[in-house]
Amino acid sequence: MGRLAGKSAVVTGAGRGFGAEIAELFAREGARVVVSDIDAVSADATARRIVDGGGEAFALRADVTSAADAESLTEVAAERFGGLDVLVNNAGISSAGGVCEVTEEEWDRVMAINLKGVYLCSRYAVVHMARSGGGSIVCIASASGVIGQQGQVAYNVSKHGVIGLVRCMALDHAADGIRVNAVCPGTMRTPMLDALSAEQLAALEAMHPLGRLADPAEVAQAVLHLAADESSFTTGSVFLVDGGFTAM
Ligand SMILES: NC(=O)c1ccc[n+]([C@@H]2O[C@H](COP(=O)([O-])OP(=O)(O)OC[C@H]3O[C@@H](n4cnc5c(N)ncnc54)[C@H](O)[C@@H]3O)[C@@H](O)[C@H]2O)c1
Repeated sequence: MGRLAGKSAVVTGAGRGFGAEIAELFAREGARVVVSDIDAVSADATARRIVDGGGEAFALRADVTSAADAESLTEVAAERFGGLDVLVNNAGISSAGGVCEVTEEEWDRVMAINLKGVYLCSRYAVVHMARSGGGSIVCIASASGVIGQQGQVAYNVSKHGVIGLVRCMALDHAADGIRVNAVCPGTMRTPMLDALSAEQLAALEAMHPLGRLADPAEVAQAVLHLAADESSFTTGSVFLVDGGFTAM
C-alpha cells in the first residue's frame, strides 16, 4: 500500500519540473492525480507517463490566475475521482530585478501566478474538503520566502506572501480538518533554471552549504510527507528543504 493510497490529488504546474516530479511520486504512492498546467501539452505528457507506469492520472489545462479554471480543477477532480484529498499549489514563475528594475506589469504577473493563484486554487479546494471532512494543502513557497534577497524583489515578496497565506489558512481551516503547510526548497535543478549561465549555477551551488543544488526528487519527499496522513499533527508549518541555504 502506498503512502497516498485511496487519495485523490491535484498538482498545479505539473507539466514539467518540480510539479511533474511531485505528480509522478504521488502516483507511485497510490494517489489518483490530476496533472494540471497552463500548458496542456506538457500536462498530457506527465499524465501519460503516469498511466504508462501503471498509475492513475489525467491532465487538465488550467491557468491558476483564472478563478473559473481554479474552480473547475476542484470540481473535475472531485467528479472524476470521487473527492479531493490533496492540493499541491506548485505553479510559479521566477523573476529577477530590484524594485526599480521590475516593471509594474512584471510585478502584477508574478503576484498573479505565485500568490493569487495559490489563493484561488485553495479557496475552491477548501470548500470541497471542508464538506467532505478534511484534506491537506501543500504550497510550494521557497527559501526566498523566509529571507530577504538582492535582485529578485517580486519573486521574494510573492513567496513571503505564500507563507503568510499558508499560516492564515491553517488557522482558519484547522477546525474543518484541513491541514495547510508550506515547503520551501532551495535551488532545484528544474527547467526554471534553464536561462542561467554555468557561472550563475556555480554561484548558486556555492550558496548552499551542502555544496550542490537539489534534485527535485529529494524535495518532493517533503511534499509527500505533508500530503500524507503520516503528518496528521502538522499544520501551518514552513518546511525548509534548502541544503542549509537559510542557515547561513
Ligand atoms: N527551481 C527552483 O530552484 C525552485 C526553488 C524554490 C521554489 N521553487 C518553486 O517551485 C515551483 C515549481 O518550479 P519549477 O522549478 O518546477 O519551475 P518550472 O518553470 O520548471 O515549472 C513551472 C510550471 O508551472 C507552469 N505554470 C506557469 N504559469 C502557470 C499558470 N499561470 N497556471 C498554471 N501553471 C503555470 C509552467 O507551465 C510549468 O510547467 C514554483 O512555485 C517555484 O517558485 C522552485
